[in-house]
Amino acid sequence: MPGAVPDVTLNNGVRMPKLGFGVFQVGDDEARAAVATALEYGYRSIDTAALYGNEHGVGVAVRASGIPREELFVTTKLWNADQGAARVEPAFERSLDKLGLDYVDLYFIHWPVPSRNLFVETWQAFERLYAHGRARAIGVSNFLRPQLARLLEETDIVPAVNQIELHPGFQQSELRQFHRGHGIATEAWSPLGQGAALTHPVITRLAERHGKTPAQVVLRWHLELGNVVIPKSVTPGRIQENLDVFDFQLTPDDAREIAELETGERIGPDPEVVGEKPSGFSSKIDPSIT
Ligand SMILES: NC(=O)c1ccc[n+]([C@@H]2O[C@H](COP(=O)([O-])OP(=O)(O)OC[C@H]3O[C@@H](n4cnc5c(N)ncnc54)[C@H](OP(=O)(O)O)[C@@H]3O)[C@@H](O)[C@H]2O)c1
Repeated sequence: MPGAVPDVTLNNGVRMPKLGFGVFQVGDDEARAAVATALEYGYRSIDTAALYGNEHGVGVAVRASGIPREELFVTTKLWNADQGAARVEPAFERSLDKLGLDYVDLYFIHWPVPSRNLFVETWQAFERLYAHGRARAIGVSNFLRPQLARLLEETDIVPAVNQIELHPGFQQSELRQFHRGHGIATEAWSPLGQGAALTHPVITRLAERHGKTPAQVVLRWHLELGNVVIPKSVTPGRIQENLDVFDFQLTPDDAREIAELETGERIGPDPEVVGEKPSGFSSKIDPSIT
């Protein structure tokens, strides 16, 4: 149902739905079908990336939906190889071409790649895209505190969002607190822990108690923490289920129980080293394809 998802107001006044739809590891044709389904069920925010190889399919679904452009919130991301002052704008134009759109609502630096030390000049190129109205908001993804601190010190615009790995097993409380202190919205990627969070006995017990599914409990937990979430699914029933999280509340005891599920372990790669040695990780998510 359109309008069912509440918004968060970003630090530049732009409003972003608190719950959107992710399309990581979804092929172009499948993305077109999944995004069409998601839009039909009422999602209005879609999260893709140049690297996902499905900007074309996402764009086709968005344009075919008949939903006015201003009611949609489309996000994409600059891939690591395109960091650097001269590469950002051409890469951005390629993304826009594939999406078939005139602007994006949010444009991210996908990973900081600190070893190349290009993220500050990349951000300054993002500031120029923003100044020219090509992206309604600009943000970063997978930035750690030291890289955020450099942007705060050396550039003009505070990122609107930092999109980071965040789920019950990896809760990022320190980084979330840093974001709050600087007006940066926290967006959770792999909010369901790629499905792993959904079989934990604490989550399944809370789901039973609330008459909801494990995914709904986890998504509700994120929303109550103040995170923006972008669950991915290519299964119509789950796409619909993941949106149906605005009719119940967790108790403080529920929140305390979920807080105890922190393991300190990422399922994705360490942002400190992604882009440096792309083949050297044991993580479940291949850093060359996130
Ligand atoms: N910035 C980054 O570096 C980065 C990295 C990773 C992800 N992301 C973004 O974050 C989005 C979400 O993360 P993710 O795709 O890694 O993982 P996720 O959303 O945590 O989990 C997706 C997995 O959970 C399953 N699932 C979804 N809803 C379910 C439900 N209601 N019940 C049971 N299983 C369910 C999906 O299966 P089916 O699809 O088979 O239904 C899929 O296997 C991505 O799509 C992408 O947009 C960003």
